[in-house]
Amino acid sequence: MLAGAMKVFVTRRLPGGALDRLAADHDVEVWPERLPPPRAELLARAAGLEGLLSLLTDQVDAELIEAAPRLRAISNYAVGVDNVDVEAATARGIPVGNTPGVLTDTTADLALALMLGIGRRLVEGDACVRRGEWRTWEPSLLLGRDLHEATVGIVGFGRIGQTVARRLEGFDCTALHTSRSGGVPFEELLERSDFISVHTPLTPETRGLIGAEALRRMKTTAYLVNTARGPVVDTAALTRALHDGEIAGAALDVTDPEPLPAGHPLLGTPNLLVLPHLGSATHATRERMADMAVDNLLAGLRGERMPHQANEVLTPRGP
Ligand code: DGY
Repeated sequence: MLAGAMKVFVTRRLPGGALDRLAADHDVEVWPERLPPPRAELLARAAGLEGLLSLLTDQVDAELIEAAPRLRAISNYAVGVDNVDVEAATARGIPVGNTPGVLTDTTADLALALMLGIGRRLVEGDACVRRGEWRTWEPSLLLGRDLHEATVGIVGFGRIGQTVARRLEGFDCTALHTSRSGGVPFEELLERSDFISVHTPLTPETRGLIGAEALRRMKTTAYLVNTARGPVVDTAALTRALHDGEIAGAALDVTDPEPLPAGHPLLGTPNLLVLPHLGSATHATRERMADMAVDNLLAGLRGERMPHQANEVLTPRGP
């Protein structure tokens, strides 16, 4: 290890060899468990930390940042940084890294998979075969809805939303979008779409964006797909809408809370497909994310601007 090695905590093992590069230069400890380090554990370690490589399951809030007076760099293993108090980090001159771009295609692929999965009833079909209920080909067995030629409303038109729109061209879909910078009005998108796919970051403005009012405006034959962040959708309102048949179904890669505890009312709704936050979950993408997160952290610890930095640091901590 080099002179000048700094104390770094990585809150979970990451795929690929990126962490070896980090450990070659710094004094790295990796949380070995499958579940995230408990809050008390993170707080207890904070005092000595100079670098933190966090996951979206870690709350890197003002309290934690304050408890870490030596902290020089935070690198989040995600494109979303809603789990990090970026303002508190910025106030301390701490850069916050994220992993944009590398997971765009992988997440867009999953959004399409969810549209097809819920529209064509893939999970129900699989369950029917496994339960031994399938006897013979039937004209009316598990009829679904076509994705091709459907109108798809994309909420949030950043990198992932735009990539989804490009994928949909191959399905001859009409893609509508709404975002801060343009597209059709949100109400129009809700009323016209056969599938609505959510791609906004979680911010105070987007929290609960798909609530009771939005769900009421959707067609009763429409499906909701969320691969962004759970709290963009109001869980209680969605639970009601699915029970009451206000919309045809929902396919969620993300939920609020996440994970949903066993017995949660949302899990008892009809026409729900739910995944354990797999948007970026391919070997290649998760390894690229790890490389990017490590590159960000190494730069931050050197006192340099991170290649992918979510904040402008006005008072950078020099080398
Ligand atoms: C992200 O990066 O924000 C995803 O939700 C996890 O890959």
